[in-house]
Amino acid sequence: MSQQATTAKRDGFSSRFGIIAAAAGSAVGLGNIWKFPYIVGENGGSAFILVYLLSILAVGVPVLLAEFIIGRRGQANAVRSFKKIAPNTKWSGIGWMGIVAAFMILGFYTVIAGYTIHYFILTVTNSFAGMSSAQIADTFNNFASSTRPIIYTVIFIILSLGILFGGIKDGIEKYTKVLMPGLVGIIALLVIRAITLPGAEEGIQFLLKPDFSELSMKAVLDALGHSFFSLSVGMGTMLTYGSYISKKESLTSITFSIAAADTIIALLAGLAIFPAVFAFGIDPTSGPGLVFITLPNVFLQMPGGIIFGALFFLLLFIAALTSVVSIFEVIIAYITEELKVNRHKAMGLTTLAVIVIATFCALSQTPDTSLIFNGHNLFDWMDLLSANVLLPIGGLLMMIFLGFIMKRSDLEDELQHGSKSIKGTMAYITITKFIAPVAIAIVFSTGIQALFS
Ligand code: PHE
Repeated sequence: MSQQATTAKRDGFSSRFGIIAAAAGSAVGLGNIWKFPYIVGENGGSAFILVYLLSILAVGVPVLLAEFIIGRRGQANAVRSFKKIAPNTKWSGIGWMGIVAAFMILGFYTVIAGYTIHYFILTVTNSFAGMSSAQIADTFNNFASSTRPIIYTVIFIILSLGILFGGIKDGIEKYTKVLMPGLVGIIALLVIRAITLPGAEEGIQFLLKPDFSELSMKAVLDALGHSFFSLSVGMGTMLTYGSYISKKESLTSITFSIAAADTIIALLAGLAIFPAVFAFGIDPTSGPGLVFITLPNVFLQMPGGIIFGALFFLLLFIAALTSVVSIFEVIIAYITEELKVNRHKAMGLTTLAVIVIATFCALSQTPDTSLIFNGHNLFDWMDLLSANVLLPIGGLLMMIFLGFIMKRSDLEDELQHGSKSIKGTMAYITITKFIAPVAIAIVFSTGIQALFS
């Protein structure tokens, strides 16, 4: 019995489809459906999309592959995996940074995720009926700057705990295998609705016809930075998931499947939004308010708007849920394995901490807040510090670790499992181990400037 306990198998994914559903679930999130469309809008459309695709290939995919390799090699959480691969070094600091980033991202991300529940309810109860554009904008601004988001954030967190409760195979895998196909079905319906609206062509052209005159340096940096956030890399999420992938699977093929799924869903989100926005003559450059202010206007005018609006916010909710779960898992895996606490206790502790941080983030958006530092409120700081600082540094260090520190024999061995030939992958790593760190360093240095301006 005791021997069985010490050799007890670590929980893990049971099928290839399960791995893809969970990891694509992590990657596809508010980043794809809320942020990607609005940064495309702000940066002038399709030329930006091309730069984004390049960033994914040159930077996002290599770091994603690095995380999977490190995680599966280490067979442990984000901190211990580095300790096992490079004993007696300081590289496990990357894992630590990841844990800090996880708390920060959860702090602001769960607040926006909570909005999706509120907006789903507003849409199905037809609450926008008869409102003017200005009233719809006021509805959003009043809600976001009140304390009401806290309630929805807590509800959202409790729902994600329901998924995390069963662990990897009987929790995350079980639910994402159902939720992700559901998400694909919903987005397909929304795209069909949007592109069949009279006047949709202009929106389709906006996405597909490149106009490089609009492309600025800011656009390039936005694209690079977002390729990171969108693939959930730089903080140990994919590393932790990688540690649950069986040795039978090819990490290269899983990496490319996930990057493709993430990118296709982001593009489909654009196709679900812009044709409709143009069809109703609304300005596409509305920024973060695109989804919560512009779209309710669109759904109000669209035939079948209540149904399609409800489906849209359900889509956003599912996307956020499967991402939040993956970020939680970074922390839970660390606490259970390092502090020897059982999973459910670890979940409880993490949840309490996240609720406190998220509450402060939500409060920092209220008008009489004192949670403003150097011109940004706490909510923005959590976003900026994680996306512009911690994720890039984490990704940079992981790439250096993979390319220059990890033993080549370990790397090749890890890639060989489940693959026929690793030549192509090794060549890809050889090239990107120089390109990715340089590109990331550039994003990082400009990101830092943005923080203090
Ligand atoms: N990739 C997620 C999205 O696009 C966000 C995320 C970032 C999730 C980092 C996990 C880790 O919304």
